[in-house]
Amino acid sequence: MSIDAPVAVEVGLGDRTYDILIGSGLLARAGAEIASRLPGTRAAVVTDANVAAAHLAALQASLETGGIQTAVITLPPGEKTKSFAHLEEVVDGVLAAKLERGDIVIAFGGGVIGDLAGFAAGIVRRGMNFVQIPTSLLAQVDSSVGGKTGINSPRGKNLVGVFHQPKLVLADTGVLDTLPIREFRAGYAELAKYGLIDRPEFFAWLEKNWVQVFAGGPERAQAIAEACRAKAEMVARDEFETGDRALLNLGHTFGHALEAATQYDGARLVHGEGVAIGMALAHRFSSRLNLASPDDAARVEAHLRAVGLPWRIADIPGDLPDAEALLAFITQDKKVSRGALTFILTRGIGQAFIAKDVPASEVLSFLTENHPDQQKMRPR
Ligand SMILES: NC(=O)c1ccc[n+]([C@@H]2O[C@H](COP(=O)([O-])OP(=O)(O)OC[C@H]3O[C@@H](n4cnc5c(N)ncnc54)[C@H](O)[C@@H]3O)[C@@H](O)[C@H]2O)c1
Repeated sequence: MSIDAPVAVEVGLGDRTYDILIGSGLLARAGAEIASRLPGTRAAVVTDANVAAAHLAALQASLETGGIQTAVITLPPGEKTKSFAHLEEVVDGVLAAKLERGDIVIAFGGGVIGDLAGFAAGIVRRGMNFVQIPTSLLAQVDSSVGGKTGINSPRGKNLVGVFHQPKLVLADTGVLDTLPIREFRAGYAELAKYGLIDRPEFFAWLEKNWVQVFAGGPERAQAIAEACRAKAEMVARDEFETGDRALLNLGHTFGHALEAATQYDGARLVHGEGVAIGMALAHRFSSRLNLASPDDAARVEAHLRAVGLPWRIADIPGDLPDAEALLAFITQDKKVSRGALTFILTRGIGQAFIAKDVPASEVLSFLTENHPDQQKMRPR
Protein backbone atom coordinates (compact mmCIF):
# COMPACT_ATOMS: atom_id res chain seq x y z
CA MET A 1 0.00 0.00 0.00
CA SER A 2 1.38 3.41 -0.88
CA ILE A 3 1.59 5.93 1.91
CA ASP A 4 1.23 9.50 0.69
CA ALA A 5 2.71 12.24 2.84
CA PRO A 6 -0.21 13.27 5.05
CA VAL A 7 -1.61 16.77 5.10
CA ALA A 8 -1.78 18.27 8.61
CA VAL A 9 -4.53 20.68 9.59
CA GLU A 10 -4.35 22.31 13.02
CA VAL A 11 -7.36 22.94 15.23
CA GLY A 12 -6.19 25.95 17.25
CA LEU A 13 -7.57 25.77 20.77
CA GLY A 14 -4.74 27.11 22.94
CA ASP A 15 -3.20 24.38 25.09
CA ARG A 16 -5.77 21.91 23.69
CA THR A 17 -4.64 22.49 20.07
CA TYR A 18 -4.54 19.29 18.03
CA ASP A 19 -3.72 18.02 14.53
CA ILE A 20 -5.91 16.40 11.94
CA LEU A 21 -3.71 14.22 9.71
CA ILE A 22 -5.20 13.38 6.33
CA GLY A 23 -3.82 10.94 3.75
CA SER A 24 -4.04 7.52 2.18
CA GLY A 25 -2.38 4.67 4.10
CA LEU A 26 -2.29 6.54 7.43
CA LEU A 27 -3.62 3.56 9.37
CA ALA A 28 -0.20 1.92 9.00
CA ARG A 29 1.43 4.78 10.90
CA ALA A 30 -1.33 5.33 13.47
CA GLY A 31 0.68 3.59 16.20
CA ALA A 32 3.75 5.77 15.61
CA GLU A 33 1.72 9.02 15.36
CA ILE A 34 -0.17 8.29 18.58
CA ALA A 35 2.91 7.07 20.49
CA SER A 36 4.86 10.20 19.58
CA ARG A 37 2.12 12.47 20.98
CA LEU A 38 0.95 10.35 23.92
CA PRO A 39 3.95 8.23 24.92
CA GLY A 40 3.65 5.29 27.28
CA THR A 41 -0.10 4.98 27.04
CA ARG A 42 -2.51 2.09 26.62
CA ALA A 43 -5.71 2.28 24.60
CA ALA A 44 -9.26 1.01 24.27
CA VAL A 45 -10.29 0.84 20.62
CA VAL A 46 -14.03 1.34 20.21
CA THR A 47 -15.33 0.22 16.82
CA ASP A 48 -18.33 -1.31 15.07
CA ALA A 49 -18.62 -4.74 13.47
CA ASN A 50 -18.42 -3.47 9.85
CA VAL A 51 -15.30 -1.41 10.43
CA ALA A 52 -13.72 -4.17 12.54
CA ALA A 53 -14.23 -6.72 9.75
CA ALA A 54 -12.58 -4.47 7.16
CA HIS A 55 -9.80 -2.66 9.05
CA LEU A 56 -9.30 -3.66 12.70
CA ALA A 57 -6.42 -6.07 12.03
CA ALA A 58 -4.49 -3.31 10.23
CA LEU A 59 -5.04 -0.84 13.08
CA GLN A 60 -4.07 -3.37 15.75
CA ALA A 61 -0.85 -4.24 13.91
CA SER A 62 -0.02 -0.54 13.66
CA LEU A 63 -0.72 0.12 17.36
CA GLU A 64 1.40 -2.87 18.30
CA THR A 65 4.27 -1.51 16.23
CA GLY A 66 3.92 1.77 18.15
CA GLY A 67 4.13 -0.20 21.43
CA ILE A 68 0.53 0.61 22.43
CA GLN A 69 -1.33 -2.14 24.29
CA THR A 70 -4.98 -2.32 23.33
CA ALA A 71 -8.34 -3.64 24.45
CA VAL A 72 -11.04 -3.73 21.76
CA ILE A 73 -14.75 -2.98 22.22
CA THR A 74 -16.79 -3.92 19.15
CA LEU A 75 -20.38 -2.70 18.92
CA PRO A 76 -23.21 -3.26 16.46
CA PRO A 77 -23.27 -0.76 13.57
CA GLY A 78 -26.00 1.85 13.22
CA GLU A 79 -27.54 4.91 14.83
CA LYS A 80 -29.26 2.85 17.57
CA THR A 81 -25.81 2.18 19.04
CA LYS A 82 -25.69 5.81 20.26
CA SER A 83 -27.65 4.78 23.37
CA PHE A 84 -27.28 4.69 27.16
CA ALA A 85 -26.99 0.88 27.02
CA HIS A 86 -23.99 0.98 24.67
CA LEU A 87 -22.46 3.93 26.53
CA GLU A 88 -22.51 1.74 29.65
CA GLU A 89 -20.91 -1.10 27.67
CA VAL A 90 -18.06 1.17 26.52
CA VAL A 91 -17.55 2.66 29.99
CA ASP A 92 -17.48 -0.81 31.49
CA GLY A 93 -15.06 -2.08 28.83
CA VAL A 94 -12.65 0.81 29.47
CA LEU A 95 -12.76 0.28 33.24
CA ALA A 96 -12.45 -3.50 32.90
CA ALA A 97 -9.27 -2.93 30.87
CA LYS A 98 -8.00 -0.90 33.89
CA LEU A 99 -7.20 2.16 31.79
CA GLU A 100 -6.17 5.32 33.62
CA ARG A 101 -7.04 8.94 32.88
CA GLY A 102 -3.80 9.38 30.90
CA ASP A 103 -4.61 6.37 28.69
CA ILE A 104 -6.54 6.68 25.44
CA VAL A 105 -9.95 5.90 24.07
CA ILE A 106 -9.66 5.50 20.30
CA ALA A 107 -12.84 5.93 18.25
CA PHE A 108 -12.42 3.78 15.14
CA GLY A 109 -15.52 4.11 12.98
CA GLY A 110 -18.06 6.51 11.58
CA GLY A 111 -19.87 9.32 13.37
CA VAL A 112 -21.85 6.94 15.54
CA ILE A 113 -18.73 5.40 17.07
CA GLY A 114 -16.98 8.81 17.26
CA ASP A 115 -19.85 10.42 19.16
CA LEU A 116 -20.33 7.49 21.54
CA ALA A 117 -16.64 6.76 22.25
CA GLY A 118 -15.93 10.49 22.62
CA PHE A 119 -18.68 10.81 25.21
CA ALA A 120 -17.31 7.81 27.12
CA ALA A 121 -13.82 9.34 26.97
CA GLY A 122 -15.24 12.60 28.29
CA ILE A 123 -16.82 11.06 31.38
CA VAL A 124 -14.75 8.00 32.39
CA ARG A 125 -12.32 9.04 35.16
CA ARG A 126 -13.57 12.62 34.55
CA GLY A 127 -12.04 12.78 31.11
CA MET A 128 -9.54 10.51 29.36
CA ASN A 129 -7.35 11.12 26.34
CA PHE A 130 -9.28 10.67 23.14
CA VAL A 131 -8.14 9.96 19.57
CA GLN A 132 -10.41 9.91 16.54
CA ILE A 133 -9.71 7.57 13.63
CA PRO A 134 -12.75 8.31 11.47
CA THR A 135 -13.62 5.74 8.79
CA SER A 136 -16.66 7.23 7.05
CA LEU A 137 -16.52 10.28 4.79
CA LEU A 138 -19.01 12.06 7.04
CA ALA A 139 -16.82 11.43 10.08
CA GLN A 140 -13.64 12.52 8.25
CA VAL A 141 -15.08 15.85 7.11
CA ASP A 142 -17.30 16.68 10.03
CA SER A 143 -18.04 14.66 13.15
CA SER A 144 -14.48 13.69 14.16
CA VAL A 145 -13.40 17.34 14.39
CA GLY A 146 -14.63 19.81 16.98
CA GLY A 147 -15.26 17.81 20.14
CA LYS A 148 -19.04 17.43 20.06
CA THR A 149 -19.81 14.01 21.53
CA GLY A 150 -22.95 12.33 22.73
CA ILE A 151 -25.77 9.84 22.42
CA ASN A 152 -29.44 9.92 21.54
CA SER A 153 -32.29 9.90 24.06
CA PRO A 154 -35.67 8.31 23.34
CA ARG A 155 -36.78 11.98 23.30
CA GLY A 156 -34.51 12.98 20.43
CA LYS A 157 -31.14 12.87 18.69
CA ASN A 158 -27.88 14.03 20.33
CA LEU A 159 -29.63 15.27 23.47
CA VAL A 160 -27.08 13.90 25.97
CA GLY A 161 -23.37 14.58 25.67
CA VAL A 162 -20.34 16.73 26.42
CA PHE A 163 -17.77 18.77 24.53
CA HIS A 164 -14.56 16.73 24.67
CA GLN A 165 -11.84 17.51 22.14
CA PRO A 166 -9.61 14.74 20.74
CA LYS A 167 -5.82 14.88 21.06
CA LEU A 168 -5.42 13.79 17.44
CA VAL A 169 -7.57 12.98 14.41
CA LEU A 170 -6.20 10.50 11.84
CA ALA A 171 -8.19 10.42 8.62
CA ASP A 172 -6.96 7.62 6.35
CA THR A 173 -8.68 8.41 3.06
CA GLY A 174 -7.93 4.89 1.78
CA VAL A 175 -10.26 3.22 4.31
CA LEU A 176 -13.14 4.93 2.52
CA ASP A 177 -12.70 2.41 -0.31
CA THR A 178 -14.74 -0.11 1.70
CA LEU A 179 -17.48 2.38 2.62
CA PRO A 180 -20.79 1.53 0.88
CA ILE A 181 -21.42 4.01 -1.97
CA ARG A 182 -24.64 5.28 -0.40
CA GLU A 183 -22.75 6.20 2.79
CA PHE A 184 -20.00 7.83 0.72
CA ARG A 185 -22.58 9.99 -1.06
CA ALA A 186 -24.21 10.91 2.26
CA GLY A 187 -20.84 12.12 3.57
CA TYR A 188 -20.28 14.02 0.33
CA ALA A 189 -23.31 16.17 1.17
CA GLU A 190 -21.49 17.40 4.31
CA LEU A 191 -18.35 17.96 2.23
CA ALA A 192 -20.20 20.13 -0.31
CA LYS A 193 -21.76 22.01 2.62
CA TYR A 194 -18.47 23.81 3.33
CA GLY A 195 -18.47 25.23 -0.20
CA LEU A 196 -22.03 26.35 0.17
CA ILE A 197 -21.42 28.03 3.56
CA ASP A 198 -18.55 30.34 2.68
CA ARG A 199 -16.20 28.77 0.10
CA PRO A 200 -17.77 29.28 -3.31
CA GLU A 201 -14.51 28.42 -5.09
CA PHE A 202 -14.48 25.06 -3.27
CA PHE A 203 -18.02 24.34 -4.45
CA ALA A 204 -16.99 25.19 -8.04
CA TRP A 205 -13.93 22.90 -7.62
CA LEU A 206 -16.19 20.06 -6.45
CA GLU A 207 -18.47 20.57 -9.43
CA LYS A 208 -15.41 19.91 -11.64
CA ASN A 209 -13.65 17.25 -9.57
CA TRP A 210 -16.31 15.22 -7.77
CA VAL A 211 -15.75 12.13 -9.94
CA GLN A 212 -12.10 11.97 -8.82
CA VAL A 213 -13.14 12.55 -5.18
CA PHE A 214 -15.42 9.51 -5.44
CA ALA A 215 -12.75 7.49 -7.28
CA GLY A 216 -10.20 8.01 -4.51
CA GLY A 217 -7.37 9.84 -6.25
CA PRO A 218 -5.37 12.67 -4.63
CA GLU A 219 -8.45 14.88 -5.13
CA ARG A 220 -10.21 12.90 -2.39
CA ALA A 221 -7.58 13.78 0.22
CA GLN A 222 -7.48 17.35 -1.11
CA ALA A 223 -11.25 17.76 -0.67
CA ILE A 224 -11.22 16.24 2.83
CA ALA A 225 -8.34 18.52 3.85
CA GLU A 226 -10.22 21.59 2.60
CA ALA A 227 -13.31 20.54 4.56
CA CYS A 228 -11.21 19.96 7.69
CA ARG A 229 -9.60 23.40 7.31
CA ALA A 230 -13.07 24.95 7.09
CA LYS A 231 -14.33 23.07 10.13
CA ALA A 232 -11.13 23.72 12.12
CA GLU A 233 -11.45 27.47 11.54
CA MET A 234 -15.06 27.45 12.61
CA VAL A 235 -14.33 25.41 15.76
CA ALA A 236 -11.33 27.57 16.74
CA ARG A 237 -13.52 30.68 16.44
CA ASP A 238 -16.55 29.33 18.24
CA GLU A 239 -15.81 26.11 20.14
CA PHE A 240 -19.10 25.96 22.03
CA GLU A 241 -21.41 27.11 19.21
CA THR A 242 -22.50 30.40 20.67
CA GLY A 243 -21.99 32.17 17.32
CA ASP A 244 -21.20 31.28 13.74
CA ARG A 245 -20.38 27.58 14.29
CA ALA A 246 -24.16 27.32 13.82
CA LEU A 247 -23.56 27.89 10.08
CA LEU A 248 -22.48 24.23 10.01
CA ASN A 249 -26.17 23.47 10.43
CA LEU A 250 -26.88 24.60 6.86
CA GLY A 251 -29.52 22.19 5.53
CA HIS A 252 -29.96 20.56 8.94
CA THR A 253 -33.25 22.20 9.99
CA PHE A 254 -35.13 20.79 7.01
CA GLY A 255 -32.95 17.67 7.07
CA HIS A 256 -33.65 16.81 10.73
CA ALA A 257 -37.38 17.31 10.16
CA LEU A 258 -37.25 14.86 7.26
CA GLU A 259 -35.23 12.36 9.30
CA ALA A 260 -37.81 12.60 12.09
CA ALA A 261 -40.64 12.30 9.55
CA THR A 262 -39.14 9.01 8.34
CA GLN A 263 -38.67 7.82 11.95
CA TYR A 264 -34.89 7.73 11.42
CA ASP A 265 -35.38 4.75 9.10
CA GLY A 266 -32.00 4.52 7.39
CA ALA A 267 -33.50 2.39 4.63
CA ARG A 268 -35.44 5.51 3.54
CA LEU A 269 -33.13 8.36 4.50
CA VAL A 270 -29.71 8.54 6.14
CA HIS A 271 -28.48 11.72 7.84
CA GLY A 272 -26.34 13.02 4.96
CA GLU A 273 -29.18 12.48 2.49
CA GLY A 274 -31.46 14.53 4.74
CA VAL A 275 -28.76 17.24 4.77
CA ALA A 276 -28.55 17.13 0.95
CA ILE A 277 -32.30 17.68 0.57
CA GLY A 278 -32.15 20.26 3.37
CA MET A 279 -29.37 22.24 1.63
CA ALA A 280 -31.28 22.25 -1.66
CA LEU A 281 -34.40 23.41 0.21
CA ALA A 282 -32.46 26.11 2.10
CA HIS A 283 -31.27 27.55 -1.24
CA ARG A 284 -34.69 27.27 -2.88
CA PHE A 285 -36.32 28.84 0.22
CA SER A 286 -33.77 31.69 0.20
CA SER A 287 -34.61 32.35 -3.43
CA ARG A 288 -38.33 32.32 -2.62
CA LEU A 289 -37.63 34.97 0.04
CA ASN A 290 -35.78 37.01 -2.64
CA LEU A 291 -32.51 36.66 -0.75
CA ALA A 292 -30.72 34.60 -3.41
CA SER A 293 -30.95 33.99 -7.13
CA PRO A 294 -32.99 30.99 -8.31
CA ASP A 295 -29.99 30.16 -10.52
CA ASP A 296 -27.93 29.37 -7.41
CA ALA A 297 -30.66 27.08 -6.08
CA ALA A 298 -30.77 25.33 -9.47
CA ARG A 299 -26.96 24.95 -9.43
CA VAL A 300 -27.03 23.29 -6.01
CA GLU A 301 -29.84 20.96 -7.06
CA ALA A 302 -28.02 20.05 -10.29
CA HIS A 303 -24.82 19.15 -8.43
CA LEU A 304 -26.58 17.00 -5.83
CA ARG A 305 -28.46 15.24 -8.61
CA ALA A 306 -25.23 14.71 -10.60
CA VAL A 307 -23.52 12.89 -7.70
CA GLY A 308 -26.60 10.74 -7.14
CA LEU A 309 -27.87 12.38 -3.94
CA PRO A 310 -31.55 13.04 -3.27
CA TRP A 311 -32.31 16.76 -3.56
CA ARG A 312 -36.06 17.17 -3.16
CA ILE A 313 -38.59 15.85 -0.66
CA ALA A 314 -40.15 13.72 -3.40
CA ASP A 315 -36.90 11.71 -3.62
CA ILE A 316 -37.62 10.08 -0.25
CA PRO A 317 -39.27 6.69 -0.80
CA GLY A 318 -42.61 6.02 0.90
CA ASP A 319 -45.32 8.29 2.25
CA LEU A 320 -44.53 11.38 4.28
CA PRO A 321 -46.61 13.41 6.69
CA ASP A 322 -48.13 16.60 5.24
CA ALA A 323 -46.47 20.04 5.25
CA GLU A 324 -48.04 21.07 8.58
CA ALA A 325 -46.68 17.95 10.25
CA LEU A 326 -43.24 18.63 8.74
CA LEU A 327 -43.36 22.15 10.15
CA ALA A 328 -44.29 20.67 13.54
CA PHE A 329 -41.09 18.58 13.42
CA ILE A 330 -39.15 21.78 12.78
CA THR A 331 -40.76 23.78 15.57
CA GLN A 332 -40.56 20.87 18.00
CA ASP A 333 -36.80 21.07 18.39
CA LYS A 334 -36.50 24.83 17.91
CA LYS A 335 -37.45 27.76 20.04
CA VAL A 336 -40.24 29.59 18.25
CA SER A 337 -40.37 33.19 19.32
CA ARG A 338 -43.57 34.97 18.28
CA GLY A 339 -44.02 32.73 15.24
CA ALA A 340 -40.44 33.28 14.02
CA LEU A 341 -37.77 30.59 13.53
CA THR A 342 -33.98 30.58 13.29
CA PHE A 343 -32.72 29.16 9.98
CA ILE A 344 -29.46 29.06 8.05
CA LEU A 345 -30.31 30.87 4.83
CA THR A 346 -28.13 32.14 2.00
CA ARG A 347 -27.58 35.12 -0.29
CA GLY A 348 -26.02 32.78 -2.87
CA ILE A 349 -23.46 29.98 -3.12
CA GLY A 350 -20.88 30.51 -0.38
CA GLN A 351 -22.90 33.23 1.36
CA ALA A 352 -24.82 31.44 4.11
CA PHE A 353 -25.97 33.40 7.15
CA ILE A 354 -27.96 32.91 10.34
CA ALA A 355 -31.50 34.30 9.98
CA LYS A 356 -33.25 34.67 13.34
CA ASP A 357 -36.64 35.93 12.24
CA VAL A 358 -38.01 33.57 9.63
CA PRO A 359 -41.82 33.55 9.84
CA ALA A 360 -43.20 30.04 10.44
CA SER A 361 -46.01 30.91 7.99
CA GLU A 362 -43.44 31.36 5.17
CA VAL A 363 -41.87 28.01 6.01
CA LEU A 364 -45.30 26.37 5.89
CA SER A 365 -46.16 27.86 2.46
CA PHE A 366 -42.76 26.80 1.15
CA LEU A 367 -43.10 23.24 2.48
CA THR A 368 -46.59 23.01 1.03
CA GLU A 369 -45.34 24.05 -2.43
CA ASN A 370 -42.43 21.61 -2.24
CA HIS A 371 -44.33 18.68 -0.77
CA PRO A 372 -44.50 15.62 -3.04
CA ASP A 373 -48.32 15.70 -2.84
CA GLN A 374 -48.23 19.12 -4.53
CA GLN A 375 -45.50 18.16 -6.98
CA LYS A 376 -47.50 15.20 -8.27
CA MET A 377 -50.03 17.78 -9.45
CA ARG A 378 -47.65 20.02 -11.42
CA PRO A 379 -44.97 19.10 -13.95
CA ARG A 380 -41.39 20.05 -13.04
N1 LIG B 1 -20.20 15.22 16.57
C1 LIG B 1 -20.48 15.91 15.49
O1 LIG B 1 -20.03 17.07 15.34
C2 LIG B 1 -21.31 15.29 14.42
C3 LIG B 1 -21.44 15.92 13.18
C4 LIG B 1 -22.18 15.30 12.18
C5 LIG B 1 -22.77 14.06 12.42
N2 LIG B 1 -22.65 13.48 13.65
C6 LIG B 1 -23.24 12.16 13.93
O2 LIG B 1 -22.61 11.21 13.07
C7 LIG B 1 -23.48 10.09 12.90
C8 LIG B 1 -23.48 9.68 11.45
O3 LIG B 1 -22.18 9.29 11.12
P1 LIG B 1 -21.90 8.30 9.89
O4 LIG B 1 -22.63 8.76 8.71
O5 LIG B 1 -20.44 8.11 9.83
O6 LIG B 1 -22.65 6.98 10.36
P2 LIG B 1 -22.15 5.58 10.95
O7 LIG B 1 -21.14 5.73 11.99
O8 LIG B 1 -23.39 4.81 11.26
O9 LIG B 1 -21.45 4.92 9.66
C9 LIG B 1 -22.21 4.64 8.52
C10 LIG B 1 -22.12 3.15 8.14
O10 LIG B 1 -20.89 2.93 7.48
C11 LIG B 1 -20.18 1.85 8.10
N3 LIG B 1 -18.77 2.17 7.94
C12 LIG B 1 -18.08 3.22 8.47
N4 LIG B 1 -16.85 3.24 7.98
C13 LIG B 1 -16.73 2.19 7.13
C14 LIG B 1 -15.69 1.71 6.30
N5 LIG B 1 -14.51 2.34 6.18
N6 LIG B 1 -15.92 0.59 5.59
C15 LIG B 1 -17.12 -0.05 5.64
N7 LIG B 1 -18.16 0.38 6.37
C16 LIG B 1 -17.97 1.49 7.12
C17 LIG B 1 -20.68 1.82 9.51
O11 LIG B 1 -20.53 0.52 10.06
C18 LIG B 1 -22.15 2.18 9.31
O12 LIG B 1 -22.87 1.03 8.92
C19 LIG B 1 -24.85 10.55 13.40
O13 LIG B 1 -25.11 9.91 14.63
C20 LIG B 1 -24.71 12.05 13.60
O14 LIG B 1 -25.52 12.55 14.63
C21 LIG B 1 -21.92 14.07 14.64
